[in-house]
Amino acid sequence: MSILRGKNILLGLSGGIAIYKSASLLRRLTRDHGCNVTVVMTRSAQAFMTPLVFETFSGKEVITEMFESRSGIVGTRHIDLVQQADLIAVIPASANIIGKICAGIADDALSTMLIAARPEKTLIAPAMNHNMYNHPVMQRNLAQLRGLSYNLIEPETGELATAEEGWGVGRLPDEKTLLFYLEKACYAQKSPALRGKKVLVSGGPTREALDDIRFISNPSSGKMGIALAESAAKQGAKVVYVSGPSSLPDPLGCETIRVVSAEAMKTQILQHFEEQDIVAMAAAVEDIRPKVKFAGKLKKQAIPEQLPLERTPDILALLGKNKKKQLLVGFSVEVEKGIEHSLKKLREKNLDLIVLNDPGEPGAAFAGDTNRITLITPDGKANPLPLKSKEESAEAVWEQLLKPEA
Ligand SMILES: Cc1cc2nc3c(=O)[nH]c(=O)nc-3n(C[C@H](O)[C@H](O)[C@H](O)COP(=O)(O)O)c2cc1C
Repeated sequence: MSILRGKNILLGLSGGIAIYKSASLLRRLTRDHGCNVTVVMTRSAQAFMTPLVFETFSGKEVITEMFESRSGIVGTRHIDLVQQADLIAVIPASANIIGKICAGIADDALSTMLIAARPEKTLIAPAMNHNMYNHPVMQRNLAQLRGLSYNLIEPETGELATAEEGWGVGRLPDEKTLLFYLEKACYAQKSPALRGKKVLVSGGPTREALDDIRFISNPSSGKMGIALAESAAKQGAKVVYVSGPSSLPDPLGCETIRVVSAEAMKTQILQHFEEQDIVAMAAAVEDIRPKVKFAGKLKKQAIPEQLPLERTPDILALLGKNKKKQLLVGFSVEVEKGIEHSLKKLREKNLDLIVLNDPGEPGAAFAGDTNRITLITPDGKANPLPLKSKEESAEAVWEQLLKPEA
């Protein structure tokens, strides 16, 4: 279940062109995440979009004035709403509202609420033209906000409505990224067990080359590894994600290292292993590779009928042998006697948890968005979970691994 479920959010909208994205974000928050959102708009924000849109999606009166309300009751709502809120998020945050926060100016409803709110529970998503964003005053203001423990959602470099070349830094990130940072800020208030932990996750397939064009691989998409990496990062872990070839974008909030072969994956993982607290090997490392790799492209007639193969390195077994403080999570794909075979693997490889996938189960396919996993612990207990999204499955893996001893 999303950590955002049932949360009270104050969504501040200031006068930036990216405000159109906030309407869709609001819909996701209220409809998909069950959040209770109160929207506050500056006067300039209302020049871009009308409160009606946000009233419709939040199901509530939008606050636009400090001293007036259509419902007739104003009182000290600028303090009460902030106190009731789990998060205050200004998306988009204009150069002007950022300047006001830094200067302590409280001259309308939003800026007054922001000065009443603790920086740790406030998210600021700057979005503006690249010249505005790169201005030394803006950079000084943002450094000040970071220093005061505000949660900044850094803007992206990309297409801008107003840049001369149509391109630059200052673009509001997409909805998925905004939701990631909202969830991260919620977790930060809960002190989750993963907070401050160093976590390495591997994901995706590996490719074992026959020549420069052909390879042996498997259909792993990398979705489960990405879900694990993002889930840990959201919960405050410092995550290194080692990815085999995957068409998916890098997980949010992680350092991603891309590799191709099992050998390269082994090298990267071993290089980072010692400093980790937790390693989760969700990658579908290919078990075999051609004994010889040919340079260039083999002519069709030159491809040998019998292809001599050899085993790739067993990275998980190697980690199990060398582990000191690390908690080690393995994944297994079994089509029969799943629990028995997985438990054997857990014991042989010195793992702390093994996650069993049965690719034959409906909804548990390699590249799908859902998974049906069974969590198996060293004491032999097997916890079969119902069909879940890969994100929810990832949360369940971390929860099981870090469960306090009974
Ligand atoms: C078409 C248009 C687009 C604008 N886009 C942005 C923007 O993306 N970011 C920004 O900081 N200001 C932008 N501005 C300027 C702000 O709206 C202006 O500085 C305003 O005073 C901000 O007020 P507020 O912070 O009270 O909402 C834009 C103005 C116009 C006319």
